[in-house]
Amino acid sequence: MFIGQQPKAAILEDYARYVNPGRVSVFKMIGLDFIPGRREGVWLWDVDGSRKLLNCRCSGGVFNLGHRPPRVVAAVKAALDELDVGDHMLLDEMRAALGKRLAALTPGDIQYSTFSPGGAEAIDVAIKLARAYTGRPGIISVHKGYHGHTGFALATGEDSFRGKFGPMPPGFTKVPFGDADALAAAINEQTAAVIMETIPATGGILIPPDDYYPRVRQLCDQWGAQLILDEVQAGLGRTGRMWAIDEWGVVPDILVIGKGLSGGVYPMSATCHRPHLDRFFQQHPFIHLSSFGGAALGCVAALAMFDQITEPGFMEHVQAMGERFEAGFRDLRARYASIATWRRRGLMMGLEMADARMGMALSPLLAQNGVLAVFADHRPSTLQLMPPLIIQPDEVDFVLEALDRALTFLEAHPEMLEMVSALSGALGM
Ligand SMILES: Cc1ncc(COP(=O)(O)O)c(C=O)c1O
Repeated sequence: MFIGQQPKAAILEDYARYVNPGRVSVFKMIGLDFIPGRREGVWLWDVDGSRKLLNCRCSGGVFNLGHRPPRVVAAVKAALDELDVGDHMLLDEMRAALGKRLAALTPGDIQYSTFSPGGAEAIDVAIKLARAYTGRPGIISVHKGYHGHTGFALATGEDSFRGKFGPMPPGFTKVPFGDADALAAAINEQTAAVIMETIPATGGILIPPDDYYPRVRQLCDQWGAQLILDEVQAGLGRTGRMWAIDEWGVVPDILVIGKGLSGGVYPMSATCHRPHLDRFFQQHPFIHLSSFGGAALGCVAALAMFDQITEPGFMEHVQAMGERFEAGFRDLRARYASIATWRRRGLMMGLEMADARMGMALSPLLAQNGVLAVFADHRPSTLQLMPPLIIQPDEVDFVLEALDRALTFLEAHPEMLEMVSALSGALGM
């Protein structure tokens, strides 16, 4: 009814004429003028049916449960017979139900949730709350972190994204990720919050030293700063635990969740905070509003998503599939010098290549071999692999075989790296 109404060439033309011509030319240039049509489980089909790709990008975790997960789709279809987005000013039964579920599932005594349509807005809420509660201006983020493109979220990020938009709000500074001494030197009585992705994804799937989060928590406590952890990508079972931070047993003051929260069928994110912070919202219950934040349909989708990921065996499956990938990486590294190492928690995986251009070259090569995967924007030497958490053993093997073929080609064609240099130069990367 919707997919493939127009020939692919006509869609490309309309996209270029009415949406974003720049993107169309880039995708054509790298041979990835793929337009998702049919989508199901781990697979995406090109709109003209000419090829299919196993999705190891998953839009950073939006498709944690694969495309159109049957349970979530069924719940939303049923909800459409009774509900709509709801009125964000009024109270809402579905929002209350999802808030309660989040309070039960989030770490420690995190209790309250504020809902938004996207991850960046949820980050903005977190920063607003930390600043308002502490009455301080300082926000410390980490170099090469990524929290989105709205106001405060953008201000936490790199100049590659924010530099062209004029002066950023004051009070934002950055420290290296994983270096507690650097944070100790930067934090002070003016710091409202320290914010980071628990496992920075765009920074290259970075895993901090074991004592990092306990020290970050201690420094925040010492200075009265709020700890904001962004689990927009790392949360919801991606690491084989409900939350990535569970590995370190640390409770943030604010946990930000998005992407996979509503099973890839409805835009939804949440800023979940501990009771002490709620003093501010209790004094100002209408100070933050969002027409589509906490839409009733999205809450239904999120509840169905949680039903699935809290089923017995779900996290064990993620861990087992991650280990199957790990065994494959070990075998590949023994055969290909171009793999330097890898970093992995559950199915959040980064293959570190010996050369930044190799990470970039692998995306189109993998696409030619049936796998959609991208390099980390702030660390192009890392190939991100984020398959759906429902991936099965034969599908893991399919990805590993595609990698094997892509690496054989790459090592046999070193001239590809020169082409990547020229292309990334032309694109201003
Ligand atoms: C870690 C992280 N935080 C926040 C965001 C922003 O989310 P959204 O694109 O939904 O605004 C992203 C998006 O990729 C992300 O990866």
